[in-house]
Amino acid sequence: MIEFPMADRLAALPPYLFAEIDRVKAQVRARGVDIISLGIGDPDMPTPEFIVEALAASAKKPENHQYPDYVGLLSFRTAVADWYKTRFGVALDPATEVVSLIGSKEGIAHFPLAYVNPSDLVLVCPPNYPVYPVATGFCGGTVKNLPLLEENDYLPDLDAVTDAEWARAKMIFVNYPNNPTAATAPRSFYEKLIKKARESKTIVVSDAAYTEMYYDPTDKPLSIFEIEGAKDVAIEFHSLSKTYNMTGWRIGMAVGNAQLVKGLGKIKENVDSGIFQAVQEAGIAALVHGEPYAEKFRAVYKERRDVAVAALARMGIACRTPKASFYLWCKVPAGQTSAAFVTKVLEQTGVVVTPGNGFGAPGEGYFRIAMTVPVARMEEALSRIAKL
Ligand code: MLT
Repeated sequence: MIEFPMADRLAALPPYLFAEIDRVKAQVRARGVDIISLGIGDPDMPTPEFIVEALAASAKKPENHQYPDYVGLLSFRTAVADWYKTRFGVALDPATEVVSLIGSKEGIAHFPLAYVNPSDLVLVCPPNYPVYPVATGFCGGTVKNLPLLEENDYLPDLDAVTDAEWARAKMIFVNYPNNPTAATAPRSFYEKLIKKARESKTIVVSDAAYTEMYYDPTDKPLSIFEIEGAKDVAIEFHSLSKTYNMTGWRIGMAVGNAQLVKGLGKIKENVDSGIFQAVQEAGIAALVHGEPYAEKFRAVYKERRDVAVAALARMGIACRTPKASFYLWCKVPAGQTSAAFVTKVLEQTGVVVTPGNGFGAPGEGYFRIAMTVPVARMEEALSRIAKL
């Protein structure tokens, strides 16, 4: 047999965290175990019916059967701009400051290709969504880690980066509400970040996929563009996936600095051919009419959060009550590693949780729960873990 060694960029990669979890899960399921998955952040509730109906109607239109525009329908980009205006009070030009994405993961993965040259420095804040360092590595960039620590409320210490490093840094990835720690960032953090980035000409990549998963209206997360001067340096990635239960649809957007949006668009022109227009039209329906549904989903997650946090406290597992996102970031019981703990939980209880170290070294000693099952299943999962 002829051997085809993979390129170095792939050979150096660990298995993709959630693909690996799926593999182990399938093995345990094959033993006949009733699996409860609190692993990947994939909403269990269906997409609202009116969005599905919008897709069905749009799919019947022959004009939607051909290649879509690379950057997305102007009507979709206008709906994004209007949504940003209503939700965050942020003005965006749909023609130059918005690009559609095949889900925010796709955009995040492609963006560094537009701006990172081999050996450029990129700042990443672990524990983090695995795509940031992987995409940086694909461009030959060098990652500097700014760890998110509990004692700093999971905000990176921007002063730990020297002036010389800021001068070298091509971009910094930030993500609030944060996956996996569920932390939120105050306005003062963004203000400091934007100041540093403008001074050092560093691109700020804000992953804002979870801004609509908040629990109290007084804690509504910010868009980075609510901060003065952000448009000089930032691009923000957002998604319809988590807000409207549309993970399978693959639709998201990048917004902000027109130059950065254009650079991403140029990469995308060369690697994909846009999003099925019927999906974009369904996306417009979601953005225009989805808020009452998002409100309902928030109430569901709030009940799950309160049940889970109370159950974890009863079993002595430390976990902060999150203000946003549908994740719980929990301490592994003393004396165990993240990997050993989640493997034991999966093999002995059938409950899937995510090991904190899978999001980077500072995640060691933690595990993540995604609140993606109804309350009764969540109670069942936690009572199985309590019995361990
Ligand atoms: C996660 O579980 O971290 C996310 O769902 C992954 C993703 O959004 O791609």
